[in-house]
Amino acid sequence: MTTVRLRSEQPADGAGIRRVLGDAFGRPDAATPAEVRLVEALRGSTAWLPELSMVAEAAGEIVGYALLSRVTVEPSGTPALALGPVAVRPDRQGLGYGTDVVEAVLDAATELGESLVVVLGSPAYYRRFGFQPAVRLGLTSPWSGLGSPWQALVLPTDTGDAPAPPPGEVSFPAPWSLV
Ligand SMILES: CC(C)(COP(=O)(O)OP(=O)(O)OC[C@H]1O[C@@H](n2cnc3c(N)ncnc32)[C@H](O)[C@@H]1OP(=O)(O)O)[C@@H](O)C(=O)NCCC(=O)NCCS
Repeated sequence: MTTVRLRSEQPADGAGIRRVLGDAFGRPDAATPAEVRLVEALRGSTAWLPELSMVAEAAGEIVGYALLSRVTVEPSGTPALALGPVAVRPDRQGLGYGTDVVEAVLDAATELGESLVVVLGSPAYYRRFGFQPAVRLGLTSPWSGLGSPWQALVLPTDTGDAPAPPPGEVSFPAPWSLV
């Protein structure tokens, strides 16, 4: 496999990220996918954490993307992160780039001292990173009614512990209403 470079988004990456998202979530009617609009809306918001918008680059091209952005657990106001969108260019899927870029962004969040990540997605995919049903941690959201796709991951601390987060409702900022 071509060597992959995993790094935070740089100012020149906007078009490459948009292309990966557009291709991976492409719609038959060619409308701009909600995931493209979500990233652009989050990028201009207080939920955006520049280091946690990460690309996988292979042979000088952006082939994968993963984003963590700010959410809070209410009523405690505990900061947490939402994972998504995650995307790999269709012609490069199944080669490990998705796993690489998700692991990289989760490692970066751990380094920053973040403690909790939530995601809405396929349990068959996110289980490999250690995600579990969020309801087991007492976490709800507008999507918890969907069941198993609503997942959470407690990140390890410096000492290797993964303390249970406070239970509550995860509050997503306005751009998430686009999805
Ligand atoms: C999902 C996605 C990011 C995975 O990236 P990738 O580079 O193709 O994945 P990897 O090569 O790291 O991993 C491949 C594994 O993921 C599994 N997988 C891929 N897409 C999956 C999905 N939607 N649901 C469940 N499992 C999935 C494959 O079956 C394969 O499993 P295996 O390791 O047991 O053989 C990519 O396929 C993609 O962009 N899909 C379209 C956009 C999307 O649906 N994103 C949200 C995902 S919930």
